[in-house]
Amino acid sequence: MTTSQDDRTTIITPNDGPIEAVFGEASPEQRVECFKQAGRSFVRSVPEDQWVAAEEQLGQLPLLRGKGCRHWCLYKADAPNEIISSLRTIRREVLIRDEQGIRQGTGYDIAMVATDAKYRGHGLASFLMRKVGEWADGPGAAPVTTLYTAVGPFYVKLGWELLPAPQVSFELPPGVSQDALQRKRGENQLLPTRLFGPDEMPDLCSRDIAQLRSQVEAYDLAPNTSLVTTLPIPEQLGWYQEMAKLQSLTWCEGREVKAVGAICEEADTWILWYQDLRNKELKIARVKPGYGDTDLAKQALVQLLSRAMEEALSWEGLLVKIAIWDPSSEVLGALEILGKELGFTPKSEMRDGVNQTSIRWAKAENRQTVFWPNEFYACN
Ligand SMILES: CC(C)(COP(=O)(O)OP(=O)(O)OC[C@H]1O[C@@H](n2cnc3c(N)ncnc32)[C@H](O)[C@@H]1OP(=O)(O)O)[C@@H](O)C(=O)NCCC(=O)NCCS
Repeated sequence: MTTSQDDRTTIITPNDGPIEAVFGEASPEQRVECFKQAGRSFVRSVPEDQWVAAEEQLGQLPLLRGKGCRHWCLYKADAPNEIISSLRTIRREVLIRDEQGIRQGTGYDIAMVATDAKYRGHGLASFLMRKVGEWADGPGAAPVTTLYTAVGPFYVKLGWELLPAPQVSFELPPGVSQDALQRKRGENQLLPTRLFGPDEMPDLCSRDIAQLRSQVEAYDLAPNTSLVTTLPIPEQLGWYQEMAKLQSLTWCEGREVKAVGAICEEADTWILWYQDLRNKELKIARVKPGYGDTDLAKQALVQLLSRAMEEALSWEGLLVKIAIWDPSSEVLGALEILGKELGFTPKSEMRDGVNQTSIRWAKAENRQTVFWPNEFYACN
């Protein structure tokens, strides 16, 4: 592997003395070490071999395989398999509307940025991020790069912009049962709903994307503002389905993940969810409203969110909370109705310090940005 002087940096550490770190895209051997390093920083609850095996499996998914996911690292010049700092870039299909019109492109999401605890505070992650930014602006040809972060100010210093990251969530109220939810749903015969599995995702994603494009065209965008949206492609949602399966193996003896969402055809409205067993949350990954009749969409969402509660309950204490990112007024209206009927109070808050959305335009161009929709499906 040849590297230029620009790809190297030397740090002086109190215990190990000077260390020369080299930047590069991880080789297959280094990739395994990157998995381990990220695991040490982010998922201490899962044994290392299990985490590495899970990462290898995820790497075979359509979203990630080939160059869909790239691992970037700083490794020791004299010991290339010792990873000091690493991150990954995962492709994102994005739709952009700005003064030049509307266009689709391939951007990247940056995830799992971590420096070995021994070497933090020496500028390594900053160096790595700058190098990956150079790659994204050059060979990566990314119009835009995103990330979801717990350490927003760190990225702002590197030229990233933090965007508003609202969410609404609620705990499943004690005493609510699947029977009671089913009975309640049955009271509204006009808006029947049904669950759906992964086999319906490609069709639903196509319908969603076609409508989203029209919505992006029609969006009332302020002057000198760019709109960016991550397209809900099936590969993107498939990643979460695989994650749910893997989590089920760890926390629920491999219980089959059958339903990935619920739909109300009459209102052209559906929701997709992700059983985040590690965090005990059912995340609503995407809310696809019927555009046009907002009251109908709200009424359908009352039904669909009660389906989501049933799904969470069916995991018998393993999912205790439901969270929805970037909630629309229809979602908030539906939750208000459900909360009154079932005795819970939805909590609206900003995700400051957890999964805060951040964006970087090509060449760190400073733009007024609307990221819409900005829902969970686009994260990581
Ligand atoms: C965040 C992290 C990647 C920084 O790595 P690093 O190599 O020490 O980074 P650098 O030396 O380039 O920069 C350190 C800066 O990050 C800041 N930083 C570290 N942790 C931070 C946090 N939790 N919140 C805000 N800033 C933080 C430091 O204050 C320091 O700022 P300074 O340069 O003004 O002193 C490292 O602390 C880490 O691996 N943390 C655990 C994993 C993690 O949280 N990753 C981020 C996920 S989005």
